[in-house]
Amino acid sequence: MAGHSLDPQDWTALRAQGHRMLDDVFDHLQSLRDQPVWREPPPDLRARFREDLPQAPADLAAVHQQFRDEVLPYSSGNAHPGFMGWVQGGGTAVGMLAEMLAAGMNSNLGGRDHMPLEVEQQVLAWARRMFAFPETASGLFVTGASQANFVGVLVARRRALGAQVRTQGLGQGGARLTAYASAAVHGCVGRAMDMAGLGSDALRRVAVDRDQRIELAALRAAIAADRAAGLTPFLLVGTAGTVDVGAIDDLTALADLAAAEGLHFHVDGAFGALGVLAPSIAPRLAGLERADSIAFDWHKWGQTPYDAGFLLVRDAELHRATFAADAQYLRRAERGLAGGDWWPCDYGPDLSRGFRALKTWFTLKTFGAAAIGAAIEGTCALAQQLAAQVSAEPELELLAPVGLNIVCFRFRDDDADALNAEIVMRLHEAGRVAPSLTRIDGRTAIRAAIVNHRTEARDVAALVEATLETGRQCRHRRAA
Ligand SMILES: Cc1ncc(COP(=O)(O)O)c(C=O)c1O
Repeated sequence: MAGHSLDPQDWTALRAQGHRMLDDVFDHLQSLRDQPVWREPPPDLRARFREDLPQAPADLAAVHQQFRDEVLPYSSGNAHPGFMGWVQGGGTAVGMLAEMLAAGMNSNLGGRDHMPLEVEQQVLAWARRMFAFPETASGLFVTGASQANFVGVLVARRRALGAQVRTQGLGQGGARLTAYASAAVHGCVGRAMDMAGLGSDALRRVAVDRDQRIELAALRAAIAADRAAGLTPFLLVGTAGTVDVGAIDDLTALADLAAAEGLHFHVDGAFGALGVLAPSIAPRLAGLERADSIAFDWHKWGQTPYDAGFLLVRDAELHRATFAADAQYLRRAERGLAGGDWWPCDYGPDLSRGFRALKTWFTLKTFGAAAIGAAIEGTCALAQQLAAQVSAEPELELLAPVGLNIVCFRFRDDDADALNAEIVMRLHEAGRVAPSLTRIDGRTAIRAAIVNHRTEARDVAALVEATLETGRQCRHRRAA
């Protein structure tokens, strides 16, 4: 090293080691199917892994070896074709390569005048087009849909309370604001209300129908009751793809109601919104194009590696007015690096921002939107296959209708809650398939959310087989 620079003295050696590391990741991705979905990090490994802050340098090859032995085999498994837990995307090799290029550039996308911002704006332009938003709409990358929903709530709050909310806080008006979503809304929306200072109780969780869609009569009644009580309804959150079963609210009806009531209409489309890329799903998302803002993730159904959340906002001026602030050290110049007319720090809470746009841009350009849409349709077809296989097995029970890519079911038993929780833990430990758990109508359900483009019919069949086998084993052991 020269002086205090951290660049290598021997670029040739680094190049060789770097190529080995790249090959190693390709090997890993190519052989995903031969590995367990998940394995528990052994206690001695965890203990060994903890060490004092290193002071002396170590050889890159040795550190990489430690990564290969002690980190890589113990991932959370979402890249694996047998992973069906929660709602998580699998990523792609292309996205991984793009992430490497982004790290190589080490760009900060808070603002200024450089081409990486053009890449983010290009993805924004594609998002506008995908959701039939006006050319004037704004948007930006954030970590994930939790953050995008939070920013959406802040935009709606700014709309309801005006500029003074930014300098004087919520005041009397803020204490009266109420928001509405279905009882099936993701927990991050309540948390967004909490973080916005409005309180999670100010989010009214409205009853759902048998398909887990918000009940419109109950919604109208809740708004009317709040108005009668002197409160100020300001935000209606529709869900495009509920986390438990993948239900899509009647977005057209919600758009009509929001317009009639003067509410900001935000849609949490964390995974479901990208259904617009799939011809068979897009019609069910009608009304999404009328939203005031949409939160969604490229890292779920969009197959971009983590993390790549996004918020799209119809009214760019309102969006900017929610965050833009004057600071001497962020002054814009007429020319030079401090030029540029689009600084994302004006549209969200982050000033330092990574280049999430690049892996998304690479993913969309390399595969094309149609292939992403086909992967989305493929996951929905697999969910239908799984539902049919579950329905054909007398020992299994389907617990919710399958509208998209999520299947909730369970092994029948007198003590089904405990047994199904045990089954899922055993499936994780066995490492062939990894569903997660939820509760449907008060009953513990095995939940398979098929999001990963690598998942195939044999993985879904393996889930059914493994559930039956494990359920029988547990029952047998209990009887013995
Ligand atoms: C409907 C819904 N909303 C929000 C989220 C949160 O998204 P993220 O994990 O990207 O923050 C999820 C996550 O699964 C979700 O399914």
